[in-house]
Amino acid sequence: MIDIDRYLENEQVKINEALGNCLPDNAPAAVINAMRYSLEAGGKRLRPILTIAVAKTLGNVSENLYTLACAVEMIHTYSLIHDDLPAMDNSDLRRGKPTCHRIYGDAVAILAGDALLTLAFQLVSQFGMREERAVQANRISAELAAAAGAAGMIGGQILDLEAEGSDPTLEQLELISALKTGALIRASVLSGAIASNASDREIKALSAYAESCGKAFQVVDDILDYEGNREDLGKPTGADLARRKATYPALLGIDGSRVLAEKLYDEAINALAPLSCNLEILSEIARKLVYRVN
Ligand code: IPE
Ligand code: IPE
Ligand code: MG
Ligand code: MG
Ligand code: MG
Repeated sequence: MIDIDRYLENEQVKINEALGNCLPDNAPAAVINAMRYSLEAGGKRLRPILTIAVAKTLGNVSENLYTLACAVEMIHTYSLIHDDLPAMDNSDLRRGKPTCHRIYGDAVAILAGDALLTLAFQLVSQFGMREERAVQANRISAELAAAAGAAGMIGGQILDLEAEGSDPTLEQLELISALKTGALIRASVLSGAIASNASDREIKALSAYAESCGKAFQVVDDILDYEGNREDLGKPTGADLARRKATYPALLGIDGSRVLAEKLYDEAINALAPLSCNLEILSEIARKLVYRVN
C-alpha cells in the first residue's frame, strides 16, 4: 500500500524545485521578489499534485508535466495573493507568513498576482512546445482560462464578496464554492488528464472525482476556519465569522458540515469506479483533503 504522506512530500519537493526554476530572470526584482515570496512561502501544493497524480494514474510519467503543475500552482498562488488584499478578505497571514501585500504593499502584490497568472499561460505554451503536444496544450489553456476566469474562480470570488453579511441558501453557497474553489481543482485534474491523452470516459470520471474533491475541499476549508489551529493552518482562524462570510458551518453547523464532507469523499471515490487503472493515489489524495488539519 502506498505511503501517501511520503508520496505527497516527495511531490511537494519536486514541485517546489520546478517552481524555483520557472520565474523569469529578466524581470524587475521588485515584482519577482514578491512572486517568489508567495510561491516559496509554502502551501500544500494540492492542485499541482493532482495534475501529476492524474497523469501518473493514466500511465504518464513525463518530467515535463511539472511545467504544467507549476502553471496550476501559479494560478492558485495568484488567487491567494489577491484574496488576501485589503479590498477582499483583508488578511495578514498566509502560509505561515505575512501576506504578500503586508510585505510588498498593495500595488506590488496586485502586480505580482497578475504576473503569476500571466506566467501560468506562458508555461502551458512551453509545455506544448517541449512535448510537441500543441493540441493538448491548447485544450489545457482553454480549461485553465475558463476555470480561472469570470465564469469560474473570479465569478466565485465576486459572489463570495457579494454574499458577505447575507444568508445564502445551500444552493447559492454551493455555487460560490464550485466557482471560487471547485473550478480550479477540476481544471488541475483535467490538465493532467488531457496531457495524458485521456479518453472521454476517463475525462468524465475524473471530472466527477474532481468536482466532489473541490466541494469537499471548500467545506473543510470553512470548517478549519471555525475550529482549526492558526499554527497548523498558517492563516488566521475566525476570519469568516468576523467578515460574516457565507460558509458551510454558518449554514449547516460544524457537525452538518463534517457529514457533508464525508458524503463528498464517498462521492469522489465512487466517481473513480469506471476507471480501470490503479486508483490508490487518487483515492488517498481525496481522503487526505477531507481529513486534514491544514
Ligand atoms: C486555500 O487553498 C484557498 C482555497 C481555495 C480554499 P489551500 O488550502 O490549498 O492553500 P495552500 O496552497 O495550501 O496554501
Ligand atoms: C479563497 O477562498 C478562494 C480563492 C482564493 C479563489 P477563501 O477566502 O475561503 O480562502 P482562505 O480561507 O482565505 O484561504
Ligand atoms: Mg475569500
Ligand atoms: Mg480568504
Ligand atoms: Mg476560507
